Parts: sequence; C-alpha cells; structure tokens
Amino acid sequence: MKHPIYLDYQATTPVDPEVLSAMLPYFSDHFGNASSSSHVYGWEALEAVKQARNSISKNLEVSPHSIIFTSGATESNNMVIKGLAFNTQEKIHVITQATEHKCVLNACEFIKKMGHEVTVLPVNEFGLIDPNQIKKSFKKNTRLVSMMWANNEIGTIQPISAIASLCFAHKIFFHTDAVQAVGQIPLNLQNIPIDFLSFSAHKIYGPKGVGVLYINPKIEKTLAPLLDGGGHERGLRSGTLNVPGIVGLAKALEISIRKQPEEEKRLTSLRDEFKNRVLSTIEMSQLNGHPFQRLPNNLNFSFRFVKSGELLAKLPTLALATGSACASESGEPSYVLGAITQNPDQIEGAIRIGLGRPTQKEELEITFELLKEAVTQIRQASPHYEMFKKGLIP
Ligand SMILES: Cc1ncc(COP(=O)(O)O)c(C=O)c1O
Repeated sequence: MKHPIYLDYQATTPVDPEVLSAMLPYFSDHFGNASSSSHVYGWEALEAVKQARNSISKNLEVSPHSIIFTSGATESNNMVIKGLAFNTQEKIHVITQATEHKCVLNACEFIKKMGHEVTVLPVNEFGLIDPNQIKKSFKKNTRLVSMMWANNEIGTIQPISAIASLCFAHKIFFHTDAVQAVGQIPLNLQNIPIDFLSFSAHKIYGPKGVGVLYINPKIEKTLAPLLDGGGHERGLRSGTLNVPGIVGLAKALEISIRKQPEEEKRLTSLRDEFKNRVLSTIEMSQLNGHPFQRLPNNLNFSFRFVKSGELLAKLPTLALATGSACASESGEPSYVLGAITQNPDQIEGAIRIGLGRPTQKEELEITFELLKEAVTQIRQASPHYEMFKKGLIP
C-alpha cells in the first residue's frame, strides 16, 4: 500500500537515520545499565549518558546539571506542577492558560483536587496570552506560571520572554512546555529567565518515550520527585536510564538546532505559500491561530459548511489531523479551537496541516488540489451551503 502524504509533524516525526545509527549500538554492543558502576558495560553506558547530557546542554546553552531525563514532555510537565505542589505544606496558586496540552491542564486539575488554587487564563482570538492578564492574576501565594511556548494545534507562539521576565521580577517560578518550539524557532535560553522547560525527542526526529526537563540549577530542590526509587537524576527521576533513547535525543537535538535557521526559512516560505493559496482560492476558508506569530511548520484551517471529520474521510491519501493527536483520540471537538472562538463552524471544521523536514513543495501542491476538491464536493452535498447560496441563511 502506498502511504499517504504525511502532514502531521506536530503529532510526531520519523527518526532521523543519523539518530537511529547513533542509538543502535546502545541496544546491543553497549547495552549496559548506566548505574552499574562495577564493570565496563556500565561505564560505557554512563559515558554515553554523560556525553548526551553535555551535548544537550551545549545546544541549549545551559548547564549540564540542569538536564533531567524523563520519558517525555507529559512526565516533565507533571513533574513541575505536581512536584511543586507535593513539596509544600502551603496552598499554592498556579497560573496557566486554556490552550495548554492536556498533560498540563490535567496536572493542574489534580493539584486543585489536593486543595491548591489554579487560574486558567483565556487567550485571544489568535490564541495569544496577554502578559498583563498574567500580572493581574498574581496573588500572594502564586508560585508557578506555566505557559506553553508554542501551541501544538494552532501554532501560536507566546511572548515567552516577556512572561518569563515578568515572573522573574515577581519571584514566581516560570515553566514552559517547549515541545513544539524546540528545533523550530530560536530559543535563546541564556537570555530568558526560565525555571523549568519541557520537551520530547519524538517531535524533533528522535525516538518516542524520552524527553527532558530543564531545571534552573539554582532551584533544583524546589520539586518533590514523583517516583520513589534508586535516586537517579540527582534524586529527581528514579528509574533505569533509557540509554539508547537519551543518545538519540541528544543527536536529534544537535541536528535540529544545527538545521533550525535554514529549516525555519524553508518551512515558513512553504507554509505561507500554501496559506495564501488556500485563503485566496477556497472561498470561506479561515486560518486558525496567529497570522504570523506562529510556528513555521504549522497551519490550521476551517472551511465553512465543512466538518473536519467528513473532510479527512474524503482525503485518504493525506495524513492530517483534526486537532492534536490526543484530542483526536477522544473524538471531542478541539478545546483549543473552543478557547479562541465560539463559532461552531470554525471549531468543528478545523484541520491541522503540520509540515516537516521531509516536506516538499510538490507534496503541498498535491495536498492543495485534493483539499480544494474535497471541500467543493462536501459543500455541493451540503443542504446548508445550498441554502446559503440561495440567500436563505446569512
Ligand atoms: C505541546 C505538547 N506538550 C506535551 C506533549 C506530550 O508529549 P509526550 O507525548 O512526548 O509526552 C505534546 C505531544 O503531543 C505536545 O504537543
């Protein structure tokens, strides 16, 4: 079977061949446990982890002590929110936004049930958060602000530097879920006062099931670990280290950071060409998310009188998503779209087009033609569209 054109790079990415070959020896020849300190198998594994940690810290321009390996961003995000709440006798206040990934929102729900306070701030019609609104929400017991760097569904990039500086000035911890930003846009961590940052290898052409929590080394003791065990990762994340995964993550990050400037340029140009073509050619189409303050590899459209489920069913040769991978599983309309609009047409008709390193212009040309044809066919069969054309509905 010929595979559909893959345009779901915000869900996951294929492992880069260079990443795979870096990982392979650590499944077989160098299979040791990085905690086995009495023989060469363990030493080799530990050395690989050490090198990976150094490489990651160099690429992110942070200290090697700030890198904690986890199973992915879901775990990293949970570690921050629950770890802070578990480490205090006080009732703390946490501020987040409505368009966060479910792992942040549900971790916040969890600590709320423990008796802590959570404020979930709304975003504007482009999915942007206003730093002034964050400031207005500060309370005496506000300990953490958690705001994603870029949104996985609509691609909106938040003013992270301004938010981080605001939190720093008020001595409030700042966490960002940077899963979608790493490798796509410049991060400049040296110049932004971030306390915690999460990301996953599988969004940057690395393996699934491995990620990082960056912790500002000055505040390491502020989190209680979620797992009890052998005290790995300076006591913050017990469990035998995933050595092949960690080696793969480091290689994937190295490649992503190296390619970031040229890929940002290339993908922005492909993205904008596709966006302009859709908006100027397919009537009543709408871009969701910010018009330009958005990820270079993300587009999200709604088409009036077209439901996203019907649209994807008409496009079997394209691998697209109606929302985030997680939201699609529940079959519920996207809560992210629900946070930027009340218009049911816009919410129910949203599809995400995620571009990636392998994406070529020709694939997007095919995608555009198929999309246009599918929208036309669905509208031709739509009684509402018929009524609209006759002027019976506005
Ligand atoms: C913004 C964002 N945060 C967190 C996650 C969770 O990452 P993982 O599944 O690697 O734990 C994802 C994955 O879809 C994401 O897009």
